[in-house]
Amino acid sequence: MGHVTNPAIDAVQTEPAVRTGTAASTAPRPESAAGGGPPLRVSVVGTGYLGATHAACMAELGFEVLGLDIDQAKIDALTRGELPFHEPGLPELLTQHVQSGRLRFTTSYEEVGAWADVHFIGVGTPQKPGESAADLRFVDAAVRSLAEHITRDALIVGKSTVPVGTAARLKDLLASTRQAAGLPGTVELAWNPEFLREGYAVKDTLTPDRLVAGVESAHAEDILRQVYAKSLAEGTPWIATDFETAELVKVAANAFLATKISFINAFSEITEQVGGDIGTLADAIGHDPRIGRKFLNAGVGFGGGCLPKDIRALQARVSELGLDRTMRFLAEMDDINLRRRDRVVDLAVQVLSHSLHGSVRVAGADGAGSVPSPAAVEILNGAKIAILGVTFKPNSDDVRDSPALDVANRLYTAGAEVAVYDPKGNANAAKRFPRLGYVNTLAKAVIGADLLILLTEWDEFRQMDPEDIGRLMDRRTLIDARNVLDPSPWHAAGFTHAALGHRFAPDSSG
Ligand SMILES: NC(=O)c1ccc[n+]([C@@H]2O[C@H](COP(=O)([O-])OP(=O)(O)OC[C@H]3O[C@@H](n4cnc5c(N)ncnc54)[C@H](O)[C@@H]3O)[C@@H](O)[C@H]2O)c1
Repeated sequence: MGHVTNPAIDAVQTEPAVRTGTAASTAPRPESAAGGGPPLRVSVVGTGYLGATHAACMAELGFEVLGLDIDQAKIDALTRGELPFHEPGLPELLTQHVQSGRLRFTTSYEEVGAWADVHFIGVGTPQKPGESAADLRFVDAAVRSLAEHITRDALIVGKSTVPVGTAARLKDLLASTRQAAGLPGTVELAWNPEFLREGYAVKDTLTPDRLVAGVESAHAEDILRQVYAKSLAEGTPWIATDFETAELVKVAANAFLATKISFINAFSEITEQVGGDIGTLADAIGHDPRIGRKFLNAGVGFGGGCLPKDIRALQARVSELGLDRTMRFLAEMDDINLRRRDRVVDLAVQVLSHSLHGSVRVAGADGAGSVPSPAAVEILNGAKIAILGVTFKPNSDDVRDSPALDVANRLYTAGAEVAVYDPKGNANAAKRFPRLGYVNTLAKAVIGADLLILLTEWDEFRQMDPEDIGRLMDRRTLIDARNVLDPSPWHAAGFTHAALGHRFAPDSSG
């Protein structure tokens, strides 16, 4: 496989010129490609959370962008300037650049293959059903489709999170598909993992804290440097490396973050038993600059479309490589994480039994378990529980592998009457668990409730007034599963307050 020679200069100008640089657009046009050709044309294949963000941000940087997805409804919405998910700041960019014509969408591989110099791949790499490994069907299909339709020199840049060794395999797939297709142009592959955080996706894309590029030629690196010229000029660290390192950087970062969260949550299991303050413990160790305070918030644990599936895929991949013991600790991190959900259910049983019967009962025979015991079911049955939050984190409508939604469903399955309210996540949650009771305001969720459980730390919930909430509830009981509420005003308002990482001691808490 040869390298891309000069895709920008060689660009075949067959498309009508798109309008750019409207009065509304503040972004400068990017520099011309090396050699003085027109600016690079960028396609983004897969326009979900990652891809739609990347496409809009590329347009913001001044590139002409064509987003492609196989989901016609998604493409129709994006073409109308409507974002099919919640991400702060992204609707404005989308509208602005769709209106200017700098950002367009299509379902046609033929169109992007004839048009773009650089093709970013942002398709999903979900967990395989019933297995730990990543499902690479979508990323394989995207590379194959591009290979079958690119009719000019181009660079394909993978952004999806993939197991180590995938890029090398896809490079071979690309070469064999191109050979069979016999199309003009030389096409090269690079891997450029994405580190954006949902809720901060625009900021993270426009001003990333580092850029990692797995490249096999100076030319591929040069193209990526042109794409990211603005960030590089602002001093963003640039790490050009091989495919394997680039792939591993992404999963190593996620494995580290998952470990940090589960580490503090393991200590929660101890403080819940013996007493002590998990927040103070986190603050105290966090002052050590070698440790740092971030990602040490005790709570119901991590979820979402990335961390859980990425640590499972990493374990599966290293097992394939014969390194079964290498990432075994991640199975423990996963277990600790999932046990936090059991703990919330257990705590709900304890708080309710104390509130309804004056005694604290424990959910499972061993105090925990994903299947509540008959005693737990007896207590939960018919209890009215206000569920605050179902997304895996605030400022997102993403409910993939959400601890909050899982807890809500477990309580419902055990017989509780749940009233679920999330500022943005209800619609997605209802698609997964249609039988839960959804309401569209915080007040409706808490009216008549026996227990309130805060499961996602949206600002709206952090700002609740204990008196206002207490007046609406049947019983003043609360579980803070994210450790974001100061217990004092809740105690002062007569609430029984319980939180993860804290021993439940109702007699001392009021
Ligand atoms: N969401 C994040 O915060 C985030 C952050 C960093 C990395 N990632 C990684 O990015 C990748 C995408 O994640 P996401 O959350 O955006 O997923 P997503 O499910 O929101 O989006 C994936 C999109 O790809 C489309 N698609 C599937 N097959 C296709 C094909 N053959 N051609 C064109 N489009 C196709 C789907 O229709 C969907 O719109 C994953 O590998 C993920 O691990 C995600």
